Amino acid sequence: MRILVTGKNGQLGRSIQKLVNTDTKIDNNQSSNYFIFAGREELDLRSESNINHYFNNNKFDIIINCAAYTAVDKAEQEAELANQINHLAVKQLASIANEQQARLIHISTDYVFDGESDEPFIETDIPNPINVYGRTKLSGEKALQEVMPMNAIIIRTSWLYSEYSNNFVKTILRLSKERDELNVVSDQIGSPTYSADLADVILEIIKHKKFKDAGQTTQIYHYSNVGEISWYEFAKEIFKIEKIEYTVNSITSQQYPSLPKRPRNTLMNKDKIVEVFNIKISNWKSSLNTCMAILKKQQ
Ligand SMILES: NC(=O)c1ccc[n+]([C@@H]2O[C@H](COP(=O)([O-])OP(=O)(O)OC[C@H]3O[C@@H](n4cnc5c(N)ncnc54)[C@H](OP(=O)(O)O)[C@@H]3O)[C@@H](O)[C@H]2O)c1
Repeated sequence: MRILVTGKNGQLGRSIQKLVNTDTKIDNNQSSNYFIFAGREELDLRSESNINHYFNNNKFDIIINCAAYTAVDKAEQEAELANQINHLAVKQLASIANEQQARLIHISTDYVFDGESDEPFIETDIPNPINVYGRTKLSGEKALQEVMPMNAIIIRTSWLYSEYSNNFVKTILRLSKERDELNVVSDQIGSPTYSADLADVILEIIKHKKFKDAGQTTQIYHYSNVGEISWYEFAKEIFKIEKIEYTVNSITSQQYPSLPKRPRNTLMNKDKIVEVFNIKISNWKSSLNTCMAILKKQQ
């Protein structure tokens, strides 16, 4: 199996690389799975011709698309670029996956929902994104399903963090060194996702019979760590684990200047992925502990 992972320098791409390099069950060079990691240097998703050129010279059995335009705030000004990467490039990847008879695993987001439900969203709930990023990601999902009604998987995840790149955990730790106290919103609820956990699940899925069997209808799955919290609670827990006395003030979204609207409640129900692939999901606190222990070692 030749497996392409796009977005090799992003959080999820790096988490998958780490796992492939350390998981002896996978054994990149000797097992039947051979992973190839591509960043924008090799595969620039802004250019249709570059994408075609890359795949003309490379054939795959599985494509895992971890690349995306993820700057939620900036997307409001760069809607066209966000749409190219999150929608049009995904459509093209789906079409190429069809031609190559490859399976496609694509990552999407809780931000396809408007957050106006008091119940966790299930996969069949009608999306209604309220910002540019969410709209482009939803367009990508729809295009993928249209072009590739079989043999693909869309995993919607939320609040992704890791020891890599920029994310909430690293930003909070950095800002706490620069400021005496922090204001964090407490009226947006969701579930954090440690990208190493999501990487693990993706690798479990590709080994699973239900994924390997050809001719499966394309499916959407929801995945995050277990737990329901606000960004404020998330920040408080970071300092608790660090054993630092630090002032975090709870504020409302209205008090936080943000150009794009952000959904209020993006909890997602994960029963489907648990049942179909028989996976166990860690609690957000234990995964946060794991990530922060790694960050500490890096200091
Ligand atoms: N981060 C979150 O909180 C979150 C929440 C929900 C869902 N998701 C979804 O989860 C997936 C993984 O997110 P992540 O946090 O790992 O994202 P990330 O850290 O921002 O990584 C995204 C990667 O995409 C690459 N990329 C951007 N534009 C590209 C282009 N034109 N051509 C090729 N590659 C390009 C970036 O390359 P460079 O490194 O060169 O910039 C980056 O490595 C994405 O689909 C995202 O939408 C993320």
